[in-house]
Amino acid sequence: MSTLSADVSQNGTIKNVDSSSSVFELEEYDFSKLPDRPKNLNIDRQRSFDERSLTELPMGHSPCPPSRADNYYGALDHFDGFFSPSKRSLLNTPRSLFGYEPHPMIAEAWETLRRSLVYFRGQPVGTIAALDSSEEKLNYDQVFVRDFVPSALAFLMNGEPEIVKNFILKTLRLQSWEKKIDRFQLGEGVMPASFKVLHDPVRNTETLMADFGESAIGRVAPVDSGFWWIILLRAYTRSTGDSSLAEMPECQKGMRLILSLCLSEGYDTFPTLLCADGCCMIDRRMGVYGYPIEIQALFFMALRCALVLLKQDAEGKEFMERIDKRLHALSYHMRSYFWIDMKQLNDIYRYKTEEYSHTAVNKFNIMPDSLPEWIFDFMPTLGGYFVGNVGPSNMDFRWFCLGNCIAILSSLATPEQATAIMDLIESRWQELVGDMPLKVCYPAIEGHEWQIITGCDPKNIRWSYHNGGSWPVLLWLLTAACIKIGRPQLARRAIELAETRLSKDGWPEYYDGKLGRFIGKQARRNQTWSIAGYLVAKMMLEDPSHLGMVALEEDKHLKPVLRRSSSWTN
Ligand code: GLC
Repeated sequence: MSTLSADVSQNGTIKNVDSSSSVFELEEYDFSKLPDRPKNLNIDRQRSFDERSLTELPMGHSPCPPSRADNYYGALDHFDGFFSPSKRSLLNTPRSLFGYEPHPMIAEAWETLRRSLVYFRGQPVGTIAALDSSEEKLNYDQVFVRDFVPSALAFLMNGEPEIVKNFILKTLRLQSWEKKIDRFQLGEGVMPASFKVLHDPVRNTETLMADFGESAIGRVAPVDSGFWWIILLRAYTRSTGDSSLAEMPECQKGMRLILSLCLSEGYDTFPTLLCADGCCMIDRRMGVYGYPIEIQALFFMALRCALVLLKQDAEGKEFMERIDKRLHALSYHMRSYFWIDMKQLNDIYRYKTEEYSHTAVNKFNIMPDSLPEWIFDFMPTLGGYFVGNVGPSNMDFRWFCLGNCIAILSSLATPEQATAIMDLIESRWQELVGDMPLKVCYPAIEGHEWQIITGCDPKNIRWSYHNGGSWPVLLWLLTAACIKIGRPQLARRAIELAETRLSKDGWPEYYDGKLGRFIGKQARRNQTWSIAGYLVAKMMLEDPSHLGMVALEEDKHLKPVLRRSSSWTN
């Protein structure tokens, strides 16, 4: 006979749980019929997640209908083993699984996250970037698309999908606005960087105001927003099992508009996306123009998500074919030319230059002298990463966190590459994690290089902000990547570091210094994505099945062909 008991979840809500079920029964069970969480979780408690490979975890059942894409990409989109069912997480409280109390920071984080909610005509539609009244607001009083992603994941993981749905629909409406900078009109598909609710107390009305780059510092359109929007739509669909949102004609159109922007034919000789500086999380001049890894990884992930979400009607099919071709070219290009490890480094070190024709080994004419000094020490014997940028005679060797984590999550990185990225993070822990996770990029640029590359930006001085600063929000990405390749203990280490300071320091936006020991010079406090990033990391570690929302399995058809070194061809 099943008994019902009350349990307190992380955010303090009380729910009933059925004590009769076991994980093994759940494997066969329709999750939609389940009570919130079984009490007698019949899993091996002696071994921690650290020791167990994730593939050993119980396979969940996907409430999503079988993929509508009948090509192989769609078929591969079955992270069911990591699938997080709708409603509340099954393995929600750490206490129940591992016998320890939830960290006190969790309740505080939820409380602040809820305070950051932004309402439009009575409905929550997003979260404000920072709840900090002490600093000048600038645009931190807005809902940023990229910033909302960790908030959205936190709400989805907590069984609160409504706000995510509202956000998706609201931003979709904004997409259809006419966007202009001076006399120039932006592409139809551009999604806003951020938006704000304006209250008119006299007329008692509310209106939305959006920024597509026309108000942003530097006037750059956020290329990442559209990709995050598609990625979030898939996360919502995965988490709730409700495909009706993605199937709405408006959502299908919104997706196609975003895709039209990045799949259009032009003068490109590479499948990567050519971008302006500051078009992503790093939204100031930081020398990321060209083909930044962050955008390429998000592009790849959004394409794969779109393949699952697009309907198989005439228009959808046409896009699927284009996506299919692009994914092949993009994965080949990225895995071959953006990848660096000891061997590749050695090859570049010995590159010949000025090679002409298709037989060239050094295709982009990279000058070995452009190899920075630091990379020879930084590159571990075991390990590797995707470099920051690759273009004509240009290789930005800096390590960027977001792009590398998304490369793992989207399976843009092959399993070997994903493992190598983790090996590198592990062996360069001090440099990349230090005292506060996690470096947005490594290393910082200084002196003359800083002058030239940032245009003397005082906010981006060495080891600060985007220039080698440490961003707590990145914790969720690290955690997801760690779980995906079976090293949750690394994520746990990083989370424990963050727990020593984050709340005491008032949830700053970023930290400064080589080791991230100082609260960022101009960092906002109560930065929402620092808070949400922490919560998502915690929830994912407690219940790795949440990973399914943000990860895609390897696509076996996208095999890497690494052919760059002369020694290879000899
Ligand atoms: C900063 C960050 C950007 C973020 C915004 C709001 O401009 O660089 O990535 O979206 O703040 O938090």
